[in-house]
Amino acid sequence: MKFFVDTAETDQIAELNDLGMVDGVTTNPSLILKSGRDILDVTREIADMVAGPVSAEVVALKADDMIAEGRKLAKIADNIAVKVPLTWDGLKACKVLSGEGNMVNVTLCFSANQALLAAKAGATFISPFIGRLDDINLDGMDLIADIRTIYDNYGFDTEILAASIRTVNHAYQAAMIGADVMTAPPAVIKKMAEHPLTNQGLETFMADWAKTGQQIL
Ligand code: G3P
Repeated sequence: MKFFVDTAETDQIAELNDLGMVDGVTTNPSLILKSGRDILDVTREIADMVAGPVSAEVVALKADDMIAEGRKLAKIADNIAVKVPLTWDGLKACKVLSGEGNMVNVTLCFSANQALLAAKAGATFISPFIGRLDDINLDGMDLIADIRTIYDNYGFDTEILAASIRTVNHAYQAAMIGADVMTAPPAVIKKMAEHPLTNQGLETFMADWAKTGQQIL
């Protein structure tokens, strides 16, 4: 499973990137706002740092305007994936931008039918939002599983990018179902390393080691 980091905070991306945990980065208008940075500047900095795809989202609502914005964003670096919303205009923009050889991430996906349309429009990535479905008492994992089945039924090579990952359990379940990629905030990725039995075991080892009176260095 590929790990994308869902943030525009460059220091946090750098820390995970140094560990080899970053296969790509996703941003959106809310994350750009949170960063307080200019979209072109921060996207360029991230794309220089990370080898994999860096998603940068258009903000226009009409296809022609999305295409113009997407072309501008794609010029930032070779590893930009243009992010477009899953609307009819977004699908039109996806078709044109992917046809021009750009990676396209179709975002704000909440149904399997939407994911099917995105694949037919040439999306490189489809981003189903798990957490936001859970927020309204639906099971985001059912959507991931449905898209996996449909894409496998017909051999679509659009990658399932599990997004709006909020918990370590989301990460685990998305991996079990076979999402190609997950994008998660840095805190969730770091939390995946934690287990109470690891901490408990380490405490015992440290206590016993102190009793030996030995040192390794
Ligand atoms: O990748 C999409 C993500 O940024 C949305 O996450 O937590 O705002 O639903 P969230």
